[in-house]
Amino acid sequence: MSAPETPAPPAPPDPPAPPAPLPFADSLWLAPLTMGGNLPYRRLCVEFGAQVTVGEMAVVRKLLRNDPAEFALLKSHPDEPCFGVQLADRSPDSLAEGARLAESRGARFVDLNCGCPIHEITRRGLGASLLRKPGKVARLIESMAKAVRIPVTVKLRLGWAEDEQNVRSVAKACEDAGAAAIAIHGRTREQRYSRAADWDVIGAVAAERGIPVVGNGDILTHYEARERRRRSGVTALMLGRGALISPWLFRELRQGREWLPTPEERVGVLWRLVELQREHFGVDERGQKRARRFLAWHLDFLHRWRALPEAEFAAEAAEHPLIHRRSPLPDASRPALERLLADPRKATHETLTDALLPCPTRDEALERCRALAASLTFEEGAEEPDASVTPAG
Ligand SMILES: Cc1cc2nc3c(=O)[nH]c(=O)nc-3n(C[C@H](O)[C@H](O)[C@H](O)COP(=O)(O)O)c2cc1C
Repeated sequence: MSAPETPAPPAPPDPPAPPAPLPFADSLWLAPLTMGGNLPYRRLCVEFGAQVTVGEMAVVRKLLRNDPAEFALLKSHPDEPCFGVQLADRSPDSLAEGARLAESRGARFVDLNCGCPIHEITRRGLGASLLRKPGKVARLIESMAKAVRIPVTVKLRLGWAEDEQNVRSVAKACEDAGAAAIAIHGRTREQRYSRAADWDVIGAVAAERGIPVVGNGDILTHYEARERRRRSGVTALMLGRGALISPWLFRELRQGREWLPTPEERVGVLWRLVELQREHFGVDERGQKRARRFLAWHLDFLHRWRALPEAEFAAEAAEHPLIHRRSPLPDASRPALERLLADPRKATHETLTDALLPCPTRDEALERCRALAASLTFEEGAEEPDASVTPAG
């Protein structure tokens, strides 16, 4: 007689389904921007059509020390359709832990910074210095990918220096290690911002790789975006300084046509940023102090916007990226409000910030800006410096 059958043990629960792949291909990304990519500004860009947003670079060492300022960089808003946390470190274990922290706080993906050119970062073996060690980059990505269910992406430059342009092999190592997408800023670490971004090299990587390659560098207008997309074959684009100068650039790219806002409409955008800041930072003294610092910082980019209609500037853009041109300041024939918004002086940005922050309504914001414009003396014949900065990526 056979032994009575023991009931089968209950089937183990199905493993959780892998998360659906994120819509990285054919998307518009707001670049990771230290200082500039704060939560209210990211929301403003989302309202204008950014589909993927990346947080400011978070240093894992500081996260592991429980530094609250670093933890603030992991925070996103439900309005952000696809937010990723960017991490900087060089240890597989630390990055695995950093990725877990990002995932636990709601990030939809986690990005490894391999582009930061700043000495303070590269001398520790982080950021762009990783480009010199493709094998190490691969191990870091593998470790992050094993630690979390969300996709892991990586942001690269072309290489460390012009004679060390190894982005093609680094990109291959990243894909083989499990990266879900690769963003490429088309310059080397040594070039910083001095040269035009090389979209042909970005295109060569895109042609070789099976995962989305996100092109980045020098996009200031919708027609430059169109030309670079066509030339390189990438479908996803990442905007950095262009989005800081004109957050509405996302809308222009999505609609494929330019929007040249009036000064009044630009005050409306500033006002919207003030509203979003108020919601995030709060209206108490501490919150307003932070809002003041960020708004004045943003004005240092926003004031650089100039109308660059395609019909007039497409030929020049074909020669050299428009972001590198020096724009004349609007002269006395232009409306005072336009001159106020283009004023490059730090003191003006601070006065404008102080005028905008306490305004209860958009109409009052406009009224105050008009009054301020009427009271300012502008510099004649001055020229705006180009948009070069010393940022983290
Ligand atoms: C103010 C500022 C801050 C930046 N911070 C970061 C950062 O935290 N992480 C990063 O990978 N890149 C950073 N970058 C680099 C940008 O993400 C982007 O790669 C670079 O600006 C080139 O794109 P663009 O020509 O569209 O500006 C920063 C750039 C700027 C201007």
